[in-house]
Amino acid sequence: MSRYKKSEDYLERALKTIPLGSQTFSKSMTHLPYGASPFFIQKGEGAYVWDLDGNKYIDFVCGLLSVSLGYNDPDVNTAVEKQLKQGVSFSLPHPIEAELAEKIVDMVPCAEMVRFGKNGSDATSGAIRIARAYTGRDHVATCGYHGWQDWYIGSTTRNLGVPKCVQDLTHTFKYNDLASLEAIFDKHPGQVAAVIMEPMNVEFPKDGFLEKVKALAHKNGAVLIFDEVITGFRFAKGGAQEYFGVIPDLACMGKGMANGFPISVVMGRKDLMKLMEDIFFSFTFGGEAVSLAAALATITKIDQLPVIDKVRANGEIIYSEVKKKLKKYKLQDCIDICGFPSWTSFKFKDSFYSKWYYKTMFMKFMMESGVMTVGSNNISYAHSQEDIEKLLVVYDGFFSLCSELIQKGTFEDYLDIPLMKPLFSVR
Ligand SMILES: Cc1ncc(COP(=O)(O)O)c(C=O)c1O
Repeated sequence: MSRYKKSEDYLERALKTIPLGSQTFSKSMTHLPYGASPFFIQKGEGAYVWDLDGNKYIDFVCGLLSVSLGYNDPDVNTAVEKQLKQGVSFSLPHPIEAELAEKIVDMVPCAEMVRFGKNGSDATSGAIRIARAYTGRDHVATCGYHGWQDWYIGSTTRNLGVPKCVQDLTHTFKYNDLASLEAIFDKHPGQVAAVIMEPMNVEFPKDGFLEKVKALAHKNGAVLIFDEVITGFRFAKGGAQEYFGVIPDLACMGKGMANGFPISVVMGRKDLMKLMEDIFFSFTFGGEAVSLAAALATITKIDQLPVIDKVRANGEIIYSEVKKKLKKYKLQDCIDICGFPSWTSFKFKDSFYSKWYYKTMFMKFMMESGVMTVGSNNISYAHSQEDIEKLLVVYDGFFSLCSELIQKGTFEDYLDIPLMKPLFSVR
């Protein structure tokens, strides 16, 4: 019987009432190999999760990087319980809004004023609206992933349902390729409101790329927005802008800022943020107090304890050990690891076999070995040295198997499930 029998049965049930059986595309069956993966998680504790069948995993997905301290963090839970007793959503703002705003203004270099949202997409869409209001322009240059809203997703292959006229306003440039951004300004002179980018995802900035993007955006009268939904409170206390020393006009954070509670933030220069008094950025749950309390507790912990350093140090070990192992097993042509230590990703390449063999086999092997993954190392403060060592033992087993199967030429034998399929990719 399948190790994932209950998950598979439950997926069948969920699919009857929920398209794809999931609220989040990247947690859905589209991202998981059927027959070799669970589809539902029942509970989490620290760095561990249990699926519906009771299988235990060290989790290196961490709620898509939202669980930054670990599941069931006692300090966050205490703050949440206290707030829950006072109330969740009120008829006027709760004072904790201003307390959290002040904490963020203290910690993040670009933040002079802030507004809160629920998802990262709220924050990025709010920032784009500010930039458009400020410049009186419509076009936007983007680099990375910025959420589900029309203005951004229209520029990707997942653009079904987005009007063409909206798609035409968003232009993508390549990371570490200033010429690709220059080309957008040349093609749309005086029309670009904003340059929005992840300050880093899979590649480190080269040759002062971030400084050059900032100068180019400003030379052309565009607002520079850093999408720090992932990098915020992860690369450094003040995000990637602090780490790389390049301060944008506006920034967006979300994901790990409340250890899994739904909250995001758009922040930046006062003159720009003041436009929020007139543009419409308003929703019923904007000041929902439990998530505000969770955020304040999480950010305070990140500020006071060595969260950033521990996560980065563990990530550095993973990165350097994986590099060594790939060399040892002569797999550098097939698999690589890239990114910032606290958020690295595997890159599977077409070499000997299609990259989809490697990806599918990786997912199957990891899940079987008790490692919850989507192909990246999303580290939380709860991961211990021992967890990292366990992970590396599993990676070693996977690399060893790959090398053996490549030598024997019997890769297909290991896979008794259909190959995973190419998905929309923006990084
Ligand atoms: C860099 C970045 N920006 C924006 C978003 C959108 O955030 P959300 O999914 O919370 O709307 C994401 C989500 O993955 C992200 O990684």
